[in-house]
Parts: sequence; structure tokens; C-alpha cells
Amino acid sequence: MKTLILGSGNGSNAASIITASKQSLLGPTEIVCIISDVSTSGILKVANENDIETQFVEAGSPKHKLSGEFETKWIEIIRKYNPDLIVMAGFMRILERSFLNNFKDIIINIHPSLLPSFKGLQAIEKAFERGVKITGCTIHWVNDEVDGGQIIAQAPVRIMDGDTCEIVRSKVQAAEHMLLPWVIGDLANGNIPFPSS
Ligand code: GRF
Repeated sequence: MKTLILGSGNGSNAASIITASKQSLLGPTEIVCIISDVSTSGILKVANENDIETQFVEAGSPKHKLSGEFETKWIEIIRKYNPDLIVMAGFMRILERSFLNNFKDIIINIHPSLLPSFKGLQAIEKAFERGVKITGCTIHWVNDEVDGGQIIAQAPVRIMDGDTCEIVRSKVQAAEHMLLPWVIGDLANGNIPFPSS
């Protein structure tokens, strides 16, 4: 399963996927490339340290979207890898329908809340400020509704009295690092079906 990872941030989720892959926990998964819209991002460093092919591709403005000529460029580059699976691991841009139509039913995203609660940015902060006692992370198929695609898997995290927002963040990230490789492995092994299969 040719797997391509998109990210803009630290790359801790990408690192968890790479670690699981090295431990042969991801079945027939091959990480073909990690692409980022941020040249200085941690995710590109993580990839380089692990000898995984990288691409930095400019994505222009507005900062929260991939559109216009930039979108065309991204589609062209990604198509060359002919991926079976695209993982949004902290990719901070909304993909529009024109992009999704090119990679139908093969894009998953990880979101740091129990969807459908706390969609969008600052999900951990929103959950913490709302005072919920259980939050977590969600992996879902990507469609043109932000954080609105079919849910694949979720992992819960308890918020205890006295937890700070930073503590909650580290718990949610630990849950992400467990869940995302698990889902990729199950997709690769056929235990989780692709929507169009
Ligand atoms: C994760 O918390 C993910 O849920 C969100 O962005 C963050 C990326 O973190 N979409 P990292 O770059 O994988 O460390």
C-alpha cells in the first residue's frame, strides 16, 4: 500500500507511523513520500532523519487552504507517486472538492478530538475550556466538509481534575500515536475497508 503523508507541523504522528513501519507493524505499507507546505517543519526533519523521500511544495495563500494554481501543482506532484493511501498528519490546509476528486476515497485525517465534537482548529483547547471529562482523537475519511467525513476509529482520553491544557495535549497526542499506525496497518491488511472497495 503506497502511502503518502502530508503535514505542516512537528511530525510526531509521522514519526509514530515510521516507527511502526520499521517494527513491521503496518503490513504491506510503503511510505513513498512526506510532503509539507512548510519548509522548516519538523515533519520534513523527521522524514530526512529516517531516509524517507520528502518534498516541500509551496501552497500559497490563503494559509488555511490549498487552492488555485498551487492546488494544481500539488495534484500533479502527488499523482506521480500513485498513492493507495494519503495520510493527513497535521496538514493544516483544507482540501477542496477539486483536489479530493483526484484522490477519491483514499485520504484520511487525524483530528485531536472525539468528532463530531470540537471540529476545526484549537480542538484540544476547545475541549479543555468546555470542561468535558472525556476527549480523544479521531481518524476519518476526508470529504469536503471540514472534519466531517466518515469516522474510521477513535481513541478516548480522560481529562482529570487538575489536568492542564498541556497535559491534555500530551495525552491526546499519545493516543494519536497509538491509533494512527493501528489504522494504517488495518487498512493495509484489509481489516478496515476503503470506502470504494
Ligand atoms: C495533531 O494533533 C493532529 O491531530 C492535528 O495536528 C497535530 C499534528 O501534530 N491535526 P504532529 O505534527 O503530528 O506532531
